[in-house]
Amino acid sequence: MYVDNDPMVYAHPRTMLDVCSSTKAVLADIEQIGELLNHPGVQALDDRRPTAVLLHDVLPWVSDELAETAMAALRAWLPDGSAISVTHATTDMAPDAMRALVAHYAEAGITYRPRTLEQIRELLAPWATLSPGVIPTTQWRAGSSRSISSGENPGAYAAIAHTCHRIE
Ligand SMILES: C[S@@+](CC[C@H](N)C(=O)[O-])C[C@H]1O[C@@H](n2cnc3c(N)ncnc32)[C@H](O)[C@@H]1O
Repeated sequence: MYVDNDPMVYAHPRTMLDVCSSTKAVLADIEQIGELLNHPGVQALDDRRPTAVLLHDVLPWVSDELAETAMAALRAWLPDGSAISVTHATTDMAPDAMRALVAHYAEAGITYRPRTLEQIRELLAPWATLSPGVIPTTQWRAGSSRSISSGENPGAYAAIAHTCHRIE
């Protein structure tokens, strides 16, 4: 399932995913997480089975408050054993380049919010983050045959976490 709030973006996965019963495109806004989770497409997911959610470069488009709300709602809603994969832009690695990107978006009336390592860790604090924690995307599983080349400045962090309901 692919979820996006931009009708132009949604048009593409719709043509590719809404052609078979096991895949789906959903037009919904993570800023209205209650509505998103109640969307019939999302409700069609099997809530008896663990679900993997990829939030890749989505949270920087959302305010601190709404990002926290969305993360909490997802955590409460996901079945036991589910996992979330987050990538998040940061100003930590190349602040000038990231500030230029933020300014570029702002000129188009779009707010983009790269966050610090500490802020991203805070968003994930209620979750059980898997080793090696929140790290630059290029260092994810560095050294494994499937790792991508280790650039100095990916400009983003990555983390995988799970809901851990059972041991609370
Ligand atoms: C950089 S793209 C990443 C897309 C995808 N996650 C990936 O990794 O390829 C960010 C996407 O987030 C979507 N987006 C931005 N704000 C959103 C919101 N409030 N709710 C849902 N999607 C949003 C944008 O329309 C855009 O398609």
